[in-house]
Amino acid sequence: MIIEFAATASPNTDGNPRLVASLVAQDALAADADLLVRGAAAAARFTGKPGQLFEVFAPAGDGVARLAFAGIGELGGAGRRATLERAGGALTAKYLTSGETALAIDFSTSGLTAEEAASVLLAARLRAWRHDIYRTKLTDDQKPSLARIVAIGAPEGTEAHWETESAVAEGVEFTRELVTEPANVIYPESFVARCLARLEGSGVEIVVLDKAEMTALGMGALLGVSQGSVREPRILAMRWKGKAGAQPTAFVGKGVTFDTGGISIKPAAGMEDMKWDMGGAAAVAGTMLTLARRKAQADVIGVCGLVENMPDGNAQRPGDVVTSMSGQTIEVINTDAEGRLVLCDAVTWVQKQYSPVTIVDLATLTGAIIVSLGHEHAGMFSNDDLLASQLDAAGKASGDSLWRFPLGSAYDKLIDSPIADMKNVGPRYGGSITAAQFIQRFVDRGVAWAHLDIAGTVWVEKSGATHDKGATGFGVRLLDRYVRDVLEA
Ligand code: BES
Ligand code: MN
Ligand code: ZN
Repeated sequence: MIIEFAATASPNTDGNPRLVASLVAQDALAADADLLVRGAAAAARFTGKPGQLFEVFAPAGDGVARLAFAGIGELGGAGRRATLERAGGALTAKYLTSGETALAIDFSTSGLTAEEAASVLLAARLRAWRHDIYRTKLTDDQKPSLARIVAIGAPEGTEAHWETESAVAEGVEFTRELVTEPANVIYPESFVARCLARLEGSGVEIVVLDKAEMTALGMGALLGVSQGSVREPRILAMRWKGKAGAQPTAFVGKGVTFDTGGISIKPAAGMEDMKWDMGGAAAVAGTMLTLARRKAQADVIGVCGLVENMPDGNAQRPGDVVTSMSGQTIEVINTDAEGRLVLCDAVTWVQKQYSPVTIVDLATLTGAIIVSLGHEHAGMFSNDDLLASQLDAAGKASGDSLWRFPLGSAYDKLIDSPIADMKNVGPRYGGSITAAQFIQRFVDRGVAWAHLDIAGTVWVEKSGATHDKGATGFGVRLLDRYVRDVLEA
């Protein structure tokens, strides 16, 4: 989607009636619309409620114009950004396959700030994203037609804000692409290759560890997960050093490119969903792209632990004991609790290699978090109240919402093992918490750490304000907001 800025709407050249959208506050259409339009809006019960859409064809010059109105409800209030995003997203959702090729959004009477206008544009772009490359039989009227949004009369400064927001859009879209691609296309090596291609020339420094290097480092937990797969594992580290002399922050993502469960194999129904078990790694990669594109003034390292979890003659067995890079031993009770085994070595490595003061890990770690929170919040676990409150604030501001869960020694005890230092699963209840306790055992003293269980928010069956059904890109806007408000403040 191309976003352009213009002072006034220019005439159409594609033969369609000119499509011009306006944002309308609650009961505010009367102010400047003509009598005919007002009457039509009233007849259609359009009042400007948040997310409400109304369109009318009206005479314009020699021809006809297609006028769209998107409701933004009462001006002011806490949910304003979300409301504006609903309006922007509703417009592109409606016109994406309408045959229209360009949508003008007229901000001249909207009363929005530049920042708010940019968030309307961000939502419009994000809601229009689709991944159609494998659909070879779409008819012309099923194909997206809308290719361009022209912001008319946008408040001064909108273009500068848009430059930042377009970097966010690029990161979110990259994350969605990685998540949407099937596991025969995206596996550890190809995940790395795609990140290398996308980040080329961005200024992000990249380090890739192959299996031999990981073996030499003693990453027995991660390698144990990978050993049943013919796909070689990788660690991908991406550093954006937009600030010198800062203490680095690390984002660590679970990148299980397909999770069959291994020998503790999952049931067949729904197993195809496990192609998105790399959503944490994808969010980290998308965030690094965003930070580089907008030249964030922060020192951030993104680490992806990339493996495929398969059953095989060489796969690890329930009961196997592995030695992690930290030296701690793990009894693998359930080979389907593999994410924590990948994360623990990735966390150990990033601490040894870069000494970050803060670590945020993102992982589609437990089905239990979906039982707890559904698809509306990701679960947050942290050893640091300040970090937790900063992430919570970033969640509220970005729309990638978080809900904090407890940690504690009573939960930690539940993963003690009779044969090794710990086991990789606890009892059935509190499963998201014991998973977090497991990761915490690998976090060094003095490091502020948060674990985000994003199993319920990476992929959804229903479309939302800024996404179609499918991959949401969850995490990119959250981490970008955290970087802006905490690291760059
Ligand atoms: N990737 C899954 C978690 C998951 C499940 C994500 C459903 C999205 C939807 C993870 O590796 C897993 O299998 N977790 C197990 C842990 C259990 C064996 C302790 C789970 O949640 O069932
Ligand atoms: Mn699993
Ligand atoms: Zn998994």
